[in-house]
Amino acid sequence: MSSLLRKKSITQLIQQSKQKSLNRTLSALDLTLLGVGAIIGTGIFVLTGVVAAESAGPALILSFVLSGIVCALAAFCYAEFASTVPISGSVYTYTYATLGEIFAFIIGWDLMLEYLLATAAVATGWSGYFQALLEGFGIMLPASFTSAPGSAEGGIINLPAVIIILLITALLSRGAKESARVNNIMVFIKLAVIFAFIIAGMFYVKPDNWTPFAPFGFEGIITGAATVFFAYIGFDAVATAAEEVKNPQRDVPIGIIASLAICTVLYMLVSFILTGMVPYSQLNVADPVTFALQFVGQDSLAGIISVGAITGITTVLLVMLYAQVRVSFAMSRDGLLPKNFATIHPIFKTPFQNTWLTGIIAAIIAGFVDLTTLAHLVNIGTLAAFTLISVAVIILRNTHPDLKRAFKVPFVPIFPAISALLCVYLMTSLPAITWIAFIIWIMIGLIVYFGYAKRRSKLNQPKA
Ligand code: ALA
Repeated sequence: MSSLLRKKSITQLIQQSKQKSLNRTLSALDLTLLGVGAIIGTGIFVLTGVVAAESAGPALILSFVLSGIVCALAAFCYAEFASTVPISGSVYTYTYATLGEIFAFIIGWDLMLEYLLATAAVATGWSGYFQALLEGFGIMLPASFTSAPGSAEGGIINLPAVIIILLITALLSRGAKESARVNNIMVFIKLAVIFAFIIAGMFYVKPDNWTPFAPFGFEGIITGAATVFFAYIGFDAVATAAEEVKNPQRDVPIGIIASLAICTVLYMLVSFILTGMVPYSQLNVADPVTFALQFVGQDSLAGIISVGAITGITTVLLVMLYAQVRVSFAMSRDGLLPKNFATIHPIFKTPFQNTWLTGIIAAIIAGFVDLTTLAHLVNIGTLAAFTLISVAVIILRNTHPDLKRAFKVPFVPIFPAISALLCVYLMTSLPAITWIAFIIWIMIGLIVYFGYAKRRSKLNQPKA
């Protein structure tokens, strides 16, 4: 039992992070933009359409509100963790230092599912807008090569999604790391197209389109919330930059919460306008935002927006793939996954093998699995991680009351408890097949842990 709960020491972690000290240049504003850059992507540009048409109808906006509340509560818990262990890392690292190895492993394993499949899902959204752009130029790609089986008639493989993942993989494997400046420009473009859509779209809203408001009832709104949850994923990216921040204990929580708040407002506005422009039942398309503009005859704006969406979704893709590599890299360095995941390329100084292995698997998944299935899987994994984090905040307050916390979740244990309950509630409205896949993934994880990781863990090795 004690070996399951063995922990990395926080002092050691902080020391490690000091050794490779990075320049502390990022401000709270940079972090907020980083968060927005990682959050806004396929969720708002694509999933809104499916959810409006099949689950929520015009009540899509309520799905976004509900999902936003769940994320905000989880984000508070996340921010407390990030401000307690002020090193660069994901929840995996925080959990290892505070709750112990088995929890860290499960969270890490769970995060891998999240980021790997999110990479595939985001690429699918990218593909939808890429095709819309080509169509604008009169180029129609055959459906068999542009959609996964089951997502469109005659779909065999989603080739654009596969290709964009491989391109991003090539970039990351050679060590292309986005600078804050490039990120800020990309975010600016992304925000500009969203504002353009909201402002232009406003003039074409027909209030008739909002009735019936909730054609699929309350249940539809909840199912919708469990799906659009995907659109909020990514704010954890903020915590990973902690070591480059001037004042991490103050700025990381600000970055997490501000980016989430901005996105929530934008998402509500977009869903309000979108369902006002087009009858909800027609929105089940791969590029709902440009579709809505074409629907009202704004073809040139639609073209500009697809370019903006493609640029914006690309940054999310970079973040997701990078996050996946980083989590498996950290787990491998701790001995919980095979060494190859942490091997550094002699020239590029990147985890080259890990990046390619991850990229190729994500590309294969993106080629053959449809977006909604992927988004559901990503969501169940993330919601499970959020549940654990929320519970962890309560546990940690009891076991380590004296740890220095720059940011504290208000009303503990009530807030984290509500957060955990809401996460579980959203999970229960996901389809059975998603649950089965998730349970299988966790079981494989436990087999890997007890069959391999527990023995190979660095914490199990006698001190050199
Ligand atoms: N939130 C990210 C997106 O919507 C994953 O693409």
